[in-house]
Amino acid sequence: MGQIRIVTGDITRLKVDAIVNAANSSLLGGGGVDGAIHQAAGPRLLEYCRSLGGCPTGEARITLAFDLPAQWVIHTVGPVWQGGDRGEPELLRACYDNSFRLALENRIGSIAFPAISTGVYGYPKALAVELAIDVMRCHVDAFETIIACCFSRADADRYRINCPECLLDDGVH
Ligand code: APR
Repeated sequence: MGQIRIVTGDITRLKVDAIVNAANSSLLGGGGVDGAIHQAAGPRLLEYCRSLGGCPTGEARITLAFDLPAQWVIHTVGPVWQGGDRGEPELLRACYDNSFRLALENRIGSIAFPAISTGVYGYPKALAVELAIDVMRCHVDAFETIIACCFSRADADRYRINCPECLLDDGVH
């Protein structure tokens, strides 16, 4: 029986099997969590990502984590928010589902997600978090631990509202 944990902190610090990167379709890095992950993983991550030839929105690719404490990075490309009637919810759900699929294929037991698309890509946090928790619940029994990694306590509170049964781990990592 798996568990969903809400953690407040920097995803690059988490010692889990896999962390998920909110990437862009080039997979060649950027700002936000993408920038932080590449910064912490070191140049070998970018070097390897160059060989992947990009990733369409809603899909996911897996790489080693190089200098990160995690073993794997699952890169997924969230939708840019365009008002909500351009398939954004379906694409965001696909990001989580495809990340979970890759994790299962690689026998990953613990996986941490940032709040995909809720930064630069402008997806309304309340809607994105509600969807994220819904998908995490669908997969919780296939993993030991699923972590929703929040970059602020305000974000953590949003997850908590949607998931009263989730374990809170707000020792900032
Ligand atoms: N740890 C955990 N969460 C983080 C971190 C971090 N170190 N840095 C940022 N976040 C959070 C943000 O606060 C936000 O809630 O990750 C969430 C996603 O925000 P972005 O990183 O802006 O990602 P996204 O909205 O999906 O936009 C992706 O931004 O960085 C570029 O290359 C990236 O083009 C892509 C776009």
